Amino acid sequence: MSRKILVTSALPYANGSIHLGHLVEYIQTDIWVRFQKMRGHQCMYCCADDTHGTPIMLRAEKEGITPEALIDRVWQEHKRDFDGFHVDFDNFHSTNSRETRHYADTIYTRLKEADLIEVRSIEQFYDPVKEMFLPDRFIKGECPKCHAKDQYGDNCEACGAAYQPTDLIDPYSAVSGATPVKRNSDHHFFKLSDPRCAGFLEGWIQPPHVQTEAANKLNEWLHAGLSDWDISRDAPYFGFEIPNAPGKYYYVWLDAPIGYMGSFQNYCDKNGLDFNEFWKPDSETELYHFIGKDILYFHALFWPAELAHAGFRTPSGVFCHGFLTVNGAKMSKSRGTFITAESYLNHLNPEWLRYYYAAKLNGSMEDIDLNLEDFAARVNSDLVGKYVNIASRCAGFLSKRFGGKLGETDAAATAEFVRAHQEGEIARSYEERDFGRALREIMRLADAANQYIAEKKPWEMAKNVDKQEGREAELHIVCSTAMTLFRDLTLYLKPVLPKLAEQVEAFLNLPALAWGEDWSALPAGHVINEYQHLMTRIDPKKTEAMVEENKASLLPSPAGGGAGGEGATPAKAKTAAQPTAAPSPQTPPPAGEGLISIDDFTKVDLRIARIANAEHVEGAEKLLKLTLDIGTETRTVFAGIKAAYAPDALVGKLTVMVANLAPRKMKFGLSEGMVLAASDERGGPFLLSPDSGAQPGMRIK
Ligand code: 2FM
Ligand code: ZN
Repeated sequence: MSRKILVTSALPYANGSIHLGHLVEYIQTDIWVRFQKMRGHQCMYCCADDTHGTPIMLRAEKEGITPEALIDRVWQEHKRDFDGFHVDFDNFHSTNSRETRHYADTIYTRLKEADLIEVRSIEQFYDPVKEMFLPDRFIKGECPKCHAKDQYGDNCEACGAAYQPTDLIDPYSAVSGATPVKRNSDHHFFKLSDPRCAGFLEGWIQPPHVQTEAANKLNEWLHAGLSDWDISRDAPYFGFEIPNAPGKYYYVWLDAPIGYMGSFQNYCDKNGLDFNEFWKPDSETELYHFIGKDILYFHALFWPAELAHAGFRTPSGVFCHGFLTVNGAKMSKSRGTFITAESYLNHLNPEWLRYYYAAKLNGSMEDIDLNLEDFAARVNSDLVGKYVNIASRCAGFLSKRFGGKLGETDAAATAEFVRAHQEGEIARSYEERDFGRALREIMRLADAANQYIAEKKPWEMAKNVDKQEGREAELHIVCSTAMTLFRDLTLYLKPVLPKLAEQVEAFLNLPALAWGEDWSALPAGHVINEYQHLMTRIDPKKTEAMVEENKASLLPSPAGGGAGGEGATPAKAKTAAQPTAAPSPQTPPPAGEGLISIDDFTKVDLRIARIANAEHVEGAEKLLKLTLDIGTETRTVFAGIKAAYAPDALVGKLTVMVANLAPRKMKFGLSEGMVLAASDERGGPFLLSPDSGAQPGMRIK
C-alpha cells in the first residue's frame, strides 16, 4: 500500500557554510527519501534555511548588508552545495517566509488560548553601548574556574567548565566591548512545566517515536522536571514580532521547527496538495524529522508538546544521529579536517562520500568517523573493484559480438539474487536506516556476481569463440546474466548513488529503476548501449589536496562565534568540532595557519591621529586619557602608556590609531579606539609615529 510520508532534515543556519558534518544528516535523509520514492510511496522531503536570530542580524550588520540580503546569498550557497551532493529536497525554503510566520502566529496564539503562554520579567545582561540584550554567546570574560581570558558566557573553551554569564569575571560584550549591565525585561514563556505537557510527553517519548537510546535520555530530562521555555527575545532582533507584543520577537528556536510546516505549506501551494491532510491531529500520513543528537531536546520535548497543544499532529518519528569525526578526532580547522561542502566538491566525487557515509550509518545515535584512508580504500574496493567491475568486464563483449543485444539468462547464477530480492533484507535495512547492513548485503551479492564471472571467464570464452562450438552462445549467456546482476545491484545502490544509477540506466537502456516486489531478468533481445566508463578510483592525492585547501582557508573567529544559534546548543551542532568563522566566499583564502588575507587586513581601519590632549586618569594606574584628532572628528582613547609617557610630552604628536574598533565601556568612560605601541621584555610601550608629512585622518594601508 502506498504511504504518504513527509520528511525533514534540521534547518541549517543561514550564516554559515555547509560542511561534511552537516552532510551526514542531509545525505542520510536523502537516501531514505529516495528509497521510499523507489518503493512507490508518496514521500516528500522539505527543508529550509534557519534565518532568524542575533548572530545573523549582527553578521549582516558587520558585512554592511541587510539580514535579508545575507540570507538570500547564503540560501543560494546552501542550495548549490546540496545540489552538488545530490541532496534532492522537494522543497528548500526559508523560515523568513510568509508561511512560517503564519504557523508561528497560529501556534503561539493557540498555546496562549490554551493558557500555556506566560509573560514574566527576567533579568539579563544588556549591552549599554549597542543597546541590546546579549545572548550568552555574546558575553565574554574571564573563566571563573581556570581564569582563561576571553571565554564565552556559557562555557570555557580552555577548561570546559559550564557556567552562567553572570559567573564570568570582568564580563564584556563581544559586540561592542562594553561592560554589560543587568536589566529586566518581559519575556514570553511556553509553560512546559504545566502538567498537561509533562503528561503528554510521558506517553509520547517512547519508541517508535524516538530510538530507545533517545527515549532513555528524554525520560531522564522529563523526570528531572521540565522548565518553562523562554520563547521571546527583545528588539533589536531579526525575526517575527509577536502579535500584540510590540518589541518582542519569537526566539529563533521557536520558529525553526515551524519552518518545516512553512516549507511544506509552500510546497503544497506550488503542487496543489492539502496541507491539513498531513498536519491535522488524526492524520493518517507519516511525519519524520531527521536530526542530530544535539537538538533532541528541541525536537522531542518542546516541539511535540507545542504541536499537541496547538491542534496539530505530532511526529511519527524523530530520527536522531551522532556527530562526525574525521580521522578519529573532532573536525579541526588547523588540521584541515573542517571540510566544507564546497571544498570537497572541488576535489572529489560526491557519490564517494554518500557511499562511505551510508556504509557507516546504522540508524543509531553513535558518532561516525570519516577516516580518509579508509574512505579511499572502501570506495575503491567496493564501488570500483566490485560493482563497476562487473559491467566493465562483460559489456564490451556484448557490444562487439552481439550488437548490444542480450541473450538468455543463467537461472542458476541469478537464483541467489532472486532469493535476496524476495527475502527483502536490503529493503528492510534501508527502511530501518541501517544503511551499513544494506550495503554489506549488496556487496555480498556483488561478490557472488564477481565469483560467477571469475568462474566462467568470459575473456577466455571470447578467445575461443571461433575455435570451439557453443562458446559464443555460452559467452552470450554469461555476459547477459552479468548485466541482469549488475542491474539488480544498481537498483539497490540507487538511493545512495543516484547519479551513477542514472548513468547505468542509460547504459542498460532502461527506464528509471523502481523497486517492486517482483523480480525478472533482463529479457533476451533487449538492446543495451555501449559501455562508458562509470567511476574512477579515489586518488589519495586528491583527498590530501582537499585537506590542504581547508587548512588554507583558516580565518580568525569573529566575536560571538561563527555560524550558529544563540541558545542551548550553539555553534557546536552537527560536528564533533567547535566551528568558528565560516569562510566568506568573497574572501580569497590566506596561505596557511595563522595567516590572514588582505581582506582581513583591510578590515582594520588604521588612521593617523594627532594627540590633541593627554591627561592622567584618576584612580587608573596604567592609563592615560588621550584625545585624538583624526581629521574629521576627535576620539577619546584610554591607553595603557602611563608608565612610559608624561601627558604633556604627547600633546601635538602624531601617532597611529585603530579607528574602527568597537567602543569599549571602561570604568573611567568610553574608549573609542586604540593607539598602536610596541613593547616586549626589552622595554616599551613605544608609541608608533609616522614619517613627516603624514596628516591626521590619513588611512594607513
Ligand atoms: O542546530 C541547528 O543548526 C538549527 N539551525 C537546527 C534547526 S532544526 C529545526 F528546528 F528547524
Ligand atoms: Zn576555564
